[in-house]
Amino acid sequence: MKIFIDTGNLNEIKEAAELGVLDGVTTNPSLIAKEGNVDFFTRLKEICALVPGPVSAEVVSTDKPGMLKEAAELRKIAPNITIKLPTIRTGLQACKVLADDGAKVNMTLCFQPLQALLVAKAGATFVSPFLGRLDDIGQDGMQLIRDIRKIYDNYGFKTQILAASIRSPLHLVEAALAGADVATVPFAVIQRMLDHPLTESGLKKFIEDWHKSHPGK
Ligand code: G3P
Repeated sequence: MKIFIDTGNLNEIKEAAELGVLDGVTTNPSLIAKEGNVDFFTRLKEICALVPGPVSAEVVSTDKPGMLKEAAELRKIAPNITIKLPTIRTGLQACKVLADDGAKVNMTLCFQPLQALLVAKAGATFVSPFLGRLDDIGQDGMQLIRDIRKIYDNYGFKTQILAASIRSPLHLVEAALAGADVATVPFAVIQRMLDHPLTESGLKKFIEDWHKSHPGK
């Protein structure tokens, strides 16, 4: 499973990259807005320089020509830019044009399996089902991942399932079990991925015992 970080914050990206297991970055307009007064293009350039894997940059146009114009500008930033488009009619059309032109496309705001089927047919590199937001309205976000996995496997679609709107380590475990190809994870969850109280207490005991049997060392 590939692990992306879901943030527009450079320090978070640097810290996650230091773990040596970071495969990419996703951003969205809300995450960039959280960073305050940063220039979108400058920030994306900085992120692309830090992480060699795919960096998703989202358009804000909702019409096809506008999306394609924004995508052309974003693609100039770096070769690892992935164009993030909303899963709407015009987004699907723009996805097909961009995919045919060799661009990587991440179709975002996916909430039902048929959206995932269509974006795969349009050549999307990634589809982003939003788990947490479905859970928020009392639906089963993880079932969406299972359904998309089954559909993609039935027909051999190569579009990668990118589990998004991950809110907890348990979400991540379940997405991995459901066969998501990628998970994009907030920094707060990345920080908790290695934690277990028995790891901490076990290590403490090993070190204490070593010092007992090697006094003075
Ligand atoms: O990758 C999409 C993600 O940023 C949305 O997460 O927590 O705002 O639903 P959330």
